[in-house]
Amino acid sequence: MTDEIKVPKGLANVVVDRTSIATTGASGNLLYRGYRAVDLADRKSFEEVAYLIVYGNLPSGDELVAFRARLNENMKLDERTIKVMDILKEKDIMRNLRSIVSLIPYRNGDINETFIQMEAKLPLISAYSAHAAYGKPMKNMEGEFFAEKFFSMIADPHKKKYWKSLEKLMILYMEHEFNASTFALRVAASTLTDPVSAVTAALATLKGPLHGGANSEVLSYLSGIRDEKDAAKFVEDKLSKKEKIMGFGHRVYKKKDPRAQYVKEELRRIAPDDPKFRAAEYVENYMFEKKGIPANVDLFAAVLMDFLGIDEVFNLPVFACSRIFGWNAHYSEQVSDNKLIRPAAEYSGPEERDL
Ligand code: COA
Repeated sequence: MTDEIKVPKGLANVVVDRTSIATTGASGNLLYRGYRAVDLADRKSFEEVAYLIVYGNLPSGDELVAFRARLNENMKLDERTIKVMDILKEKDIMRNLRSIVSLIPYRNGDINETFIQMEAKLPLISAYSAHAAYGKPMKNMEGEFFAEKFFSMIADPHKKKYWKSLEKLMILYMEHEFNASTFALRVAASTLTDPVSAVTAALATLKGPLHGGANSEVLSYLSGIRDEKDAAKFVEDKLSKKEKIMGFGHRVYKKKDPRAQYVKEELRRIAPDDPKFRAAEYVENYMFEKKGIPANVDLFAAVLMDFLGIDEVFNLPVFACSRIFGWNAHYSEQVSDNKLIRPAAEYSGPEERDL
């Protein structure tokens, strides 16, 4: 083959295209359209940041009102969707999200309108899935804001005063340039398939344990760690078996994940004595001392959601309900300057032979 370019496995450090949506490159900070994600989490609402990601600039007052209204009017499920979930009773909420989102009709060519449908319905599909599969009561959706509404359906009502902590986490989960699920979405978009199909591919990719699935596995090990000695033993055991510890390491952040540090400080503020928070810090310290591998956002996200009374089954759906706004922006960016993504492979099978 002519003009062959060999790249490292996993495409690590390979720049495959340009994006104006977000970067992790600038001095270790995650930037959304130029703004530090942590500053946005501090000072802006989920809807304002979602608008910024999707449209490229922060909304004016009127734009924000209109965007919220479009989300609100689509925050409902139709009979057909409810019936399918009742039949499936799928316990894995991410599987359900992937299946149910794929049923959302794509009728016209308006990309953002189709995305609004998916963005508004994902929190409801998540909450209703758990109701259908586990018989958990379907809580009423309350509040004015997107994250507040989601909180009311999945979190402990006694923790209501902390709903903005969920909002902050969701802002930090919203976008992360060419991560695996977004790249899967861009590959799909590059074939000019519809947004619903592209999001289905992204949800299927997000679900894997090396990507979003990590946050669901963190709590089970943290609950067995009471002190520094337990943490050291846990890390040593895992490393000696050459097993990965979920919630640690990152393809891009080799020294520090700014999102992890932000969520850690949020926990220090609202839940300094939470036993799982302490356990997470013990493991973080030992892991860094021993291997120099920093915690990623999933470590503290899992602890935060646990503190807010959000059942573990929702951990990854929360991530998906945020990241879909990033997928929206990437879908539009890909199709607006498209080239089919179709790499080549180095063949390692048998030589040509006669049958
Ligand atoms: N636990 C233990 N060791 C880890 C580790 C972890 N979570 N993450 C990385 N390492 C080690 C690897 O074993 C490897 O060590 P070696 O050089 O001695 O073989 C080294 O760090 C580099 O890891 P590698 O897997 O090549 O890095 P990557 O950039 O390909 O992978 C992840 C990044 C995210 C896939 C990886 O860190 C991981 O699997 N983490 C756990 C899953 C997770 O939390 N994912 C959520 C990401 S936000």
